[in-house]
Amino acid sequence: RRTQVGIVGAGPSGLLLSHLLARQGIDSIVVENRGRDYVEERVRAGVLEQGTIDTLAEAGLGERMMAEGLFHDGIEIRFDGQAHRIDFPSLTGGKRIMVYGQNEVVKDLIDARLEAGGAIVFDVDDTAIEGIDGESPTIRYGKDGAEHAIACDYIAGCDGFHGICRPSISEAALTGYDRVYPFAWLGVLADSRPPSREVAYCHSERGFALLSLRSPTVSRLYIQVAPDEDIANWPDQRFWDELQRRTAVEGAAPIETGPILHKGITPMRSFVAEPMRNGRLFLAGDAAHIVPPTGAKGMNLAVADIRFLTEALAAFYRTGDTAGLDGYSARALRRVWKAQRFSWWMTTMLHLSPDDSPFDRRRQRAELDYVTGSEAAMRTIAENYVGLPFETGL
Ligand code: FAD
Ligand code: DHB
Repeated sequence: RRTQVGIVGAGPSGLLLSHLLARQGIDSIVVENRGRDYVEERVRAGVLEQGTIDTLAEAGLGERMMAEGLFHDGIEIRFDGQAHRIDFPSLTGGKRIMVYGQNEVVKDLIDARLEAGGAIVFDVDDTAIEGIDGESPTIRYGKDGAEHAIACDYIAGCDGFHGICRPSISEAALTGYDRVYPFAWLGVLADSRPPSREVAYCHSERGFALLSLRSPTVSRLYIQVAPDEDIANWPDQRFWDELQRRTAVEGAAPIETGPILHKGITPMRSFVAEPMRNGRLFLAGDAAHIVPPTGAKGMNLAVADIRFLTEALAAFYRTGDTAGLDGYSARALRRVWKAQRFSWWMTTMLHLSPDDSPFDRRRQRAELDYVTGSEAAMRTIAENYVGLPFETGL
């Protein structure tokens, strides 16, 4: 089998790339080691930047998103028993965000690809790539006991942080920048009324908490826990009690509880691999970089990478010129590092770190006081949160 662009991974990165390439008349095949149901039900990110909303809508993926997604005009920051609001449209020239689950985006993408006759091969095993230094790299995989090979012009490594594409690059050709945080998030999806109208980031003496939602009747809630925390230590009632304590502010009604539909622990780390290309392999999304989730940048960065990679591949197939492909990594990394900075900053501003000195804690409180009191500081949060403008290419 042969294709123009072989894509490893059917997360947001791989599926969006396949969809956008098809709109440019470029052929691709996606291989995914999980099943369709698993990929569609995986509970992850939920906040779309303005540029992500626009990218999906312009690509014909906006129908259900616009009907069911919830536009939000701001976020809350809570500390010391007070809630502070940061308004986005007034600080960013009219930009907003949307709450729409990553798995809903994935469902819409899979539907669109399959409807257009696109090739997604689910449930593969032993994925491997070879020949990225040559003219025709190959993706190999097993399926139902048989071995398969796809010869490609280019391979897109969209297989997430634990995928096989990044490790296929020789260590000497890649530099990794890594930071691990001394805490994790316990995340819950609950059939309960969202406790806050807008996404609320809560700093407290007991640790960080985040109030979010998926719909008017489904809440998405997180609390900071130790990185090695055992989820068995968090029966439902303990979670609700702790969430209430960390998020309480003057005038807020007690949190309404409800059945917990999903509970999981996410470790927190910042990581960037440079460059995002080796030979005929291009890395995109979590395969190349991950951010701690505070600030909701993970999936949005993946979408920006794919936008840039699509432009570069489309220019190559149109004109034969590889300048865009040669510039892809540098262009993507300019955005990646700005999102890394913002995610690191939001994370350290809002969490309690066991390494913090009493001085650090006082400075942290002053920072929260400053960012919720100064219009210049609020604008800084707003313009990063709604997403910086897409970087220009060559
Ligand atoms: P992924 O979504 O990871 O997709 C990669 C795909 O490749 C997967 O479908 C995987 O099954 C497949 N794959 C892996 N290995 C192979 C292989 N060998 N062969 C074939 N296929 C393979 N971001 C936020 O902004 N907010 C959040 O709350 C949040 N929560 C998260 C929770 C968890 C547990 C994780 C892991 C991430 C979370 N993120 C969050 C980050 C966000 O979900 C990611 O940034 C986003 O999924 C990146 O998309 P991607 O397509 O690049 O990678
Ligand atoms: C959500 C996740 C985030 O990481 C964040 O910063 C805000 C909201 C969410 O899952 O809704």
